[in-house]
Order: sequence, then C-alpha cells, then structure tokens
Amino acid sequence: MQDGLRIGVIGLGAQGVQHMWGIGRIEGVRLAAVVDVDAERASRVAAEKGVPGFSDLDAFFRAGTEVVDGVVVCVPNKHHCETVLQALSAGLHVLVEKPMAVSLAECDRMIAAADAAELRLMVSHNLLFYEPHRAVRDLIASGGIRRPHLYRTRLTCGNMYGGWRDRAELCGGGLLIDSGAHRFYTARQLMGEVKTVTAWLDTDDPRRRGDEMGFVIMEFEQGGVGLIDSTFHAPGETFDDLVELVSRDAMIWIPGSEAEYLKTWSHPPVASGAEVMINRDGSRWEVLPTPRDDWASSCVKSVAHFADCIRGRAEPITSGHEGRRNLAVLSAAYLSGMERRPVSIEEVG
Ligand SMILES: NC(=O)c1ccc[n+]([C@@H]2O[C@H](COP(=O)([O-])OP(=O)(O)OC[C@H]3O[C@@H](n4cnc5c(N)ncnc54)[C@H](O)[C@@H]3O)[C@@H](O)[C@H]2O)c1
Repeated sequence: MQDGLRIGVIGLGAQGVQHMWGIGRIEGVRLAAVVDVDAERASRVAAEKGVPGFSDLDAFFRAGTEVVDGVVVCVPNKHHCETVLQALSAGLHVLVEKPMAVSLAECDRMIAAADAAELRLMVSHNLLFYEPHRAVRDLIASGGIRRPHLYRTRLTCGNMYGGWRDRAELCGGGLLIDSGAHRFYTARQLMGEVKTVTAWLDTDDPRRRGDEMGFVIMEFEQGGVGLIDSTFHAPGETFDDLVELVSRDAMIWIPGSEAEYLKTWSHPPVASGAEVMINRDGSRWEVLPTPRDDWASSCVKSVAHFADCIRGRAEPITSGHEGRRNLAVLSAAYLSGMERRPVSIEEVG
C-alpha cells in the first residue's frame, strides 16, 4: 500500500485538472481517486492518473474512507453544498472550491455537518496564499505604510465564460459570485472585515439573470473604502485582476495574479511583470520586493494547507466560517444591487 494522505478530486474540469497537477507537487499527499458525472471523462482521467475513477457519486461515497481521506470539490457552484454534505456523511474531509456555496443557508448546513462529523471543511480561497498579497498585508500590519484608505480592483473578463457559468441558476449569479469571489476575500485580507456594501449592477435580478457588469463599494469596519469594478464586456481572452491600494504615505499597484499567469491584462503590460510597485512620494515608482509566486502555486498551497490541517499540523485560515463570511459580503452586494441601497453585512447575517 502506498503512503501519504489520500486525496480525491470531484469534478475533473479546468480547476479539477489544476488541483490534480498541484496534488502531485505536495509532499506526503497523493491523488487517490477521481470523480466526475461525465463517465467518459472519469474513466479517461482515471486511466491517465492510474487511480480509481468514479462517475457514480453514490458508489464513490460508499467506498468513502476505504479509498480517500479527503476530497477537493471542483463542481459547478450550485452543486457545492450537496456534494460537500455527501462527502462529510461519508467521513471525508473537504476542501471546496470558491464560492463556498450559493447561499448562506447552504453554508450553515455545511458548517453544521462538518462540526457534527468532526471533519475539516475548508474553502479554496487560494489567493490568500499568493505571496505578493501576503507581503502587502504584512507591510500594512507592521506599519511599513499607513493603513490604506482606498482599495480598488479590476475584474475585467473578456466575453462571458460559457458553460455552466453563463447559467445563473448553476453559478448562483453572474461574474461577481464566480470570479468575483476572489476579489472580496482579497479586499478583506488587505483591508479587514466589511461593514456595509453599496452596489450598482447591470441587472436587478443577478441571482436569476447573472450580472455582467457592476461596481461594488465596500466600507470596512476599521475605516477605508474598497471598489470592485467588474465587467464581461471587454475583448475576448482579456482577464484582469489588478489591485491598487492608496494610503496617506504610499500608493501600491499589485499586478493581477491571474492576469499575470494568463498574460491577459486589460491595461498595457507593465514593464515590471509580476512585481509589486510602490510610490511613496507621488512621483517615483519602485519595485516593492515580495517573494515570487504565481496563481497556480497559490492553488497548490491551498491544498497543501488543507492537508496540513487534516494532519493536525495547522489550523484552517480558510475555514467554512471564512467561506461563509466571504459569501455574506457577496450576498450583501447582490441585495444592494437589487434594491439599490446600502446593505450592512449584519442585515444579510
Ligand atoms: N480558485 C480558482 O481560481 C478557480 C478557477 C476556476 C474554477 N474554480 C471553481 O472550480 C469549480 C469548477 O469550475 P471549473 O472551471 O473546473 O468548471 P468545469 O466546467 O471546467 O468543470 C466542472 C466539472 O464538474 C463536473 N460535474 C458537474 N456536476 C457534477 C457533479 N454534481 N458531481 C461531479 N462532477 C460534476 C463536470 O462534468 C465537469 O467535468 C467551480 O466551483 C469554480 O468556481 C475556481
């Protein structure tokens, strides 16, 4: 029998493939099963990877802990909750992709089930592990610059994604709940918890029609304001997630991690590549040294952290509660866009 923590991947599309690649790079962890409702895909990937493949989810969950210790759930957002609940009932630790679920009620059921089963439930907020973000967060926390009063990020995504993401009932909404999920937790990582959200969306029914464009203004508990601007209406293949921070004594520009990875900026490419830039006197931009990293390795670190938590070597920084807090801010943005008024996080629960 092979050693190592046994991880199964459920959902073998783009992100499942990413995680299978990542699992192979984590010491003491191995891919032990692959699962997808698409039978052809499940058996092809199983043969490629040399592990058991399942297209019958009930059969996989019956096999449960005989086959794997934990699973990474990479299925369309609408199916996160049911898949996670089944995995937990089968005795498996779970890392679920973002967004944790499509409603806060679902998050509550998932957290309660994990608590009852005494299993790890974590959400893959992989950009929390992206080193440039961590370095800037540490710079702020250590007083290296004054606390920013402005956080701004682009979410520019050329053309609709296609597939299940274009069906609001499967996605849970549109651009904001899907790729937007990363922008909300990154804002919280750098600026702290959100108090109130005011959003303009291009639809008054994002949960059923899917937002394609929006402006979300967040007021933070510790002061300061954040803006996420999101749009699908850019040339095809564009993807940009640039972050800008402004404090009284510095301006910081963090090139988008995914844009850097994909090389698809919505601004002219910066000469500095992935370097974080800082301007402390209004006139001179210089490189802020941060550890080298990229989007793909942040996904690997997310799974590595999950494995460490299963083995009791770490406490989750991306727990179910963290996933729920992020969805609460998103839910406030959707409610605000629908009702055209500011919404407090307290109001959505
Ligand atoms: N962290 C990130 O940066 C990131 C990037 C991309 C996707 N994601 C997330 O990963 C998840 C999957 O996205 P994707 O881009 O890989 O989608 P995808 O369409 O490429 O793949 C989804 C796969 O899930 C399978 N599937 C559908 N329903 C299923 C079910 N009930 N049980 C088992 N398999 C099922 C499909 O057959 C398909 O193979 C989503 O939650 C998405 O938000 C995260």
